[in-house]
Amino acid sequence: MLAQLPEGFTTLVTGAGGGIGRAVVDALLASPRPGRVIGVSRQSGPVVNDARCEALNTDLTTAEGREALVAHLDGTPLHLTFNTIGMLHDEALGIHPEKRLDDLDAEALARLFQVNATTPALLLRALQPNLKGHHPALVASLSARVGSIEDNRLGGWYAYRASKAAHNMLMRTAAVELRRLNPTIAVACLHPGTTDTALSRPFQARVPEDKLFTPAFVAERLLNVLEQRRLGESASFHDWAGEPVAW
Ligand SMILES: NC(=O)c1ccc[n+]([C@@H]2O[C@H](COP(=O)([O-])OP(=O)(O)OC[C@H]3O[C@@H](n4cnc5c(N)ncnc54)[C@H](OP(=O)(O)O)[C@@H]3O)[C@@H](O)[C@H]2O)c1
Repeated sequence: MLAQLPEGFTTLVTGAGGGIGRAVVDALLASPRPGRVIGVSRQSGPVVNDARCEALNTDLTTAEGREALVAHLDGTPLHLTFNTIGMLHDEALGIHPEKRLDDLDAEALARLFQVNATTPALLLRALQPNLKGHHPALVASLSARVGSIEDNRLGGWYAYRASKAAHNMLMRTAAVELRRLNPTIAVACLHPGTTDTALSRPFQARVPEDKLFTPAFVAERLLNVLEQRRLGESASFHDWAGEPVAW
């Protein structure tokens, strides 16, 4: 697994209580290669019976949460940073994907931008001391194909699409700068495919069974896609099958 990273590599997984995040933690721990897997979640994480796993319970959408993470890491060089935080809907806040312009709501737009775009970018800002140096480093962040501007033929889902497009631009912009901090860094935006998690559950009815993936399958696929990334390469956007997605 991830042969471009050193034996005993250190990984950070954010959104570790989410469907895909949890599966990424499990997939990493199934390999003997990672030495330390730090899972960050707002939820108190499941007890994983593996001494290599550390759970940090905080909300990375807040400045306090990011400060708690920086304090926990205490300058540790990160080899793999895997962000899985993202939202599409929130029943409690009455946020649903928009079907038409009339559905647009300023607060819902701002919320999705905060979780899907601002948070991953501010996370990278906070992690600069852990990425800086010459150690091999991969940065992955979960995007979505609907965030592709080129691929948008169906319309709808304004806030989610736009926040993922902004996510991609922020990651691509940060990649240029991060490579000055550490020439090995490769930043990868990843589309997991439709995956059976809380995020997709209300929208699964019309998804054919063979197109709805388990989180475990997706985690394995995404780690495979990362395995194909070359250290120091430009920012990339790939789907679960390793196919490039148009920005
Ligand atoms: N599932 C799909 O079909 C699909 C398709 C395309 C792209 N994606 C992307 O894949 C990523 C992972 O999604 P998933 O399917 O695993 O969904 P999920 O089970 O809902 O997990 C997403 C996680 O993101 C964090 N999060 C969500 N809303 C948040 C908020 N308001 N404040 C702070 N943290 C929040 C939470 O992490 P904690 O609970 O650990 O705090 C949550 O568990 C997302 O970026 C999503 O956009 C998913």
